[in-house]
Amino acid sequence: MLLGLSYKMRLVVLVVGLCIMGGSGLLLKGLLVPESFGVYGPYRADAIQEETVLPVRHGTNVSCYSCHAYEAKVHKAGLHQTISCEFCHGPYADHVGNNKKIGTLPVKTGKEINTLCLRCHNTEIKARPEQVIKTVAMPDHLKTQHVKLTHNCNQCHHVHAPLKYINRAKQITGLTEKTL
Ligand code: HEC
Ligand code: HEC
Ligand code: HEC
Ligand code: HEC
Repeated sequence: MLLGLSYKMRLVVLVVGLCIMGGSGLLLKGLLVPESFGVYGPYRADAIQEETVLPVRHGTNVSCYSCHAYEAKVHKAGLHQTISCEFCHGPYADHVGNNKKIGTLPVKTGKEINTLCLRCHNTEIKARPEQVIKTVAMPDHLKTQHVKLTHNCNQCHHVHAPLKYINRAKQITGLTEKTL
């Protein structure tokens, strides 16, 4: 279509075209970019206000201790003491309101427990060095313990204090880490 036009006319069409594109770009930007964008940085400043009024869904481990004295005692004494109860059981807000139980939290059973444990302890997670979290490879870990592959982690490891039973077994049998 442009082929019939002179050199000058083609230039005019090009410049007008670019102006229309640039203008509509600016117009769209004005319409689509939220008002408070860029006040503090490359994000919506209003978002800060909106986030602060959201209800808090998580407690801390301390928020569980008052009602679950037994679990608290075991958990605090074991190697899982730094792990959040809510990571494994779900948020406080689904369970407690006005200091009373208002809902049931999920409790993993059977094979679900293996999946839960391996979210942190799987050797497959290459980005996690052994010095930070000890990891195991499945099914090798069960093979070296000479048990059936159908065994679940909590049959040997107490979920709230993972070496509790194992240390106890060592005490009873007189085996230490070196002799195992
Ligand atoms: C590593 C994950 C994990 C952490 C952390 C954890 N739990 Fe558990 N908890 C489990 C699993 C899995 C079960 C069920 C299996 C079992 O008891 O062997 C369970 C069972 C329970 C039960 C018994 C539920 C029932 O009806 O049988 C309570 C109560 C409980 N946990 C509370 C807590 C509290 C409180 C904390 C923090 C102090 C906590 N848990 C931390 C994984 C965890
Ligand atoms: C106001 C008291 C209270 C607080 C706080 C509380 N719980 Fe409970 N929880 C209960 C009662 C009551 C039960 C039912 C009886 C039982 O298992 O001891 C229960 C049961 C559970 C169960 C078994 C499944 C269920 O919902 O019945 C889990 C898991 C659990 N609580 C975890 C937690 C965790 C994790 C926290 C902290 C985020 C927590 N609880 C805080 C009172 C409480
Ligand atoms: C949220 C991450 C997380 C989850 C989920 C978790 N653990 Fe742990 N576990 C840790 C951390 C952190 C430690 C302490 C650091 C360490 O010694 O590896 C630990 C320690 C351990 C240890 C002792 C390792 C040692 O030092 O000899 C065992 C065994 C263990 N966990 C088993 C389990 C089992 C079984 C489950 C499932 C019920 C589980 N873990 C779920 C993070 C987790
Ligand atoms: C038949 C019992 C048994 C079962 C089932 C079992 N473990 Fe173990 N696990 C052990 C023993 C025993 C040790 C050695 C503890 C020691 O030497 O102090 C151990 C050690 C570990 C360690 C520490 C490894 C290290 O390098 O020191 C982790 C992490 C672990 N187990 C996680 C798991 C997970 C996750 C599961 C489930 C998928 C599981 N275990 C199932 C018995 C078992």
